Amino acid sequence: MQYLKFIALFSAAGFTTINCSEPTTDGLITALKENIFGKTEIRPVINLKTPTNISVSFTLYGILDVHRDQWTWEHRNQLTWDHQAQDWDPVKCGTDRISIPRKQLWRPDIIINEFIDENKVPDTYYLYVEYTGKVMDDLPFHVISSCNLDIYTFPFDIQNCTFTFNSYQHTGDVQLFFVEPVEETLQNSLSVMKTKGEWELVDMLAEKPPILPGNLNITFDTLIYYVVLSRRPTMYVVNLLIPSCFLIAVDLFSFLLPPQNVDRSAFKMTLILGYTVFLLLMNDLLPVTGNSLPLINVFFSLCLALMVASLLETILITNIQCGFTRYGPLPPWAKVLFLNYLAKLVCLSKKPSDQNCDPEGESYHAKSNKSIDKHFKTDESTEEWMHLGQVIDRLVFCLYTMFLSVSFITIFVYWLYWYNKTASLI
Ligand SMILES: *[C@@H]1O[C@H](CO)[C@@H](O)[C@H](O)[C@H]1NC(C)=O
Ligand SMILES: *[C@@H]1O[C@H](CO)[C@@H](O)[C@H](O)[C@H]1NC(C)=O
Ligand SMILES: *[C@@H]1O[C@H](CO)[C@@H](O)[C@H](O)[C@H]1NC(C)=O
Repeated sequence: MQYLKFIALFSAAGFTTINCSEPTTDGLITALKENIFGKTEIRPVINLKTPTNISVSFTLYGILDVHRDQWTWEHRNQLTWDHQAQDWDPVKCGTDRISIPRKQLWRPDIIINEFIDENKVPDTYYLYVEYTGKVMDDLPFHVISSCNLDIYTFPFDIQNCTFTFNSYQHTGDVQLFFVEPVEETLQNSLSVMKTKGEWELVDMLAEKPPILPGNLNITFDTLIYYVVLSRRPTMYVVNLLIPSCFLIAVDLFSFLLPPQNVDRSAFKMTLILGYTVFLLLMNDLLPVTGNSLPLINVFFSLCLALMVASLLETILITNIQCGFTRYGPLPPWAKVLFLNYLAKLVCLSKKPSDQNCDPEGESYHAKSNKSIDKHFKTDESTEEWMHLGQVIDRLVFCLYTMFLSVSFITIFVYWLYWYNKTASLI
């Protein structure tokens, strides 16, 4: 009597196993069609108070594209849950699992919050059902999702992208679990990653944050995967940083040209023009800035600023060296300050003898056979201005070299620090 009651209770609860008429696929499908198929509206539990446990497995296949903070990913999510009231005897029904059209069963509405576009993979039609009632739904994704791009240390940057899984509508009814430890997820993803492009998968973290009930007591079970990626910097170093360093080196060495004999200012102007064109061409390689200015832009600006500064300095020196014809003899205080003290400081105290490149100076040599006194005086003044120009040129060259070294070393040490940090993560 009690036994019968027990059976009745179970039947009422729907705990019947499916009975197949014959141990073939046909038999099973017929039985499934009668009992299970088409009941997509309700969660497959006997008692609606029982939550459905969903196991989530995630495998990253590739990073296809990054545009601003929109990333195109290729990945695969496997959801596994229990379909109560759908189990059969594998002997009587001839098989222990079967694939059936996805549309015939209830499916959880698990979403990934970061998605900002539709899944571009063609629909896959089937899912697997096991004789125990376990349902396995494997979904491929090719989708754009958002991930904050922090490009301050570009091209030595590390990005940390988030995938948040939760049910869109079910609060409390659906509970999420990780299928495997995240180390396994990382290993699986590394072994199937197809794109060996710019990004390298460095690490994965996973967490199930504690449920915080909101004011409406709505609780969403949430799973979070953090995907840590590092950029492969070689292309940017070769295409952006090394050419910039070459051009700055040329600019530095162009201080060795005498300011007037060979037209140093024209040379530097050409260099600036060349660098501007280089920057324009390489602009496509740079990431579009988000919230912070990348250090590499500071580096480029610094290079350009140094080139412009050295061009201005050349113009100034050229002007000074022709100073006598415009400003007359050098004032005595300038003589003391520049030609005595500063000249000693920059090791240029010897007066130049035949550094005359002033065309008007040449004409003095030719014409001045009548008033030799005047000629000597003028000649001396001209040489003083020339010497002043050389002293200032040398001084600025020293400052320029110092500033260049300090700023470049600072930036490169910072990059190196980030590069090592990335390398230590791998
Ligand atoms: C779901 O998971 C919870 C926690 O692990 C467990 O207590 C419960 O029995 C599971 N429910 C089912 C239907 O498996
Ligand atoms: C990624 O972000 C998560 C959450 O903010 C953090 O716990 C983790 O340490 C980060 N990983 C890296 C490598 O920055
Ligand atoms: C939330 O749930 C708790 C316990 O279940 C209850 O004590 C509380 O009053 C609820 N709050 C609201 C706003 O419904």
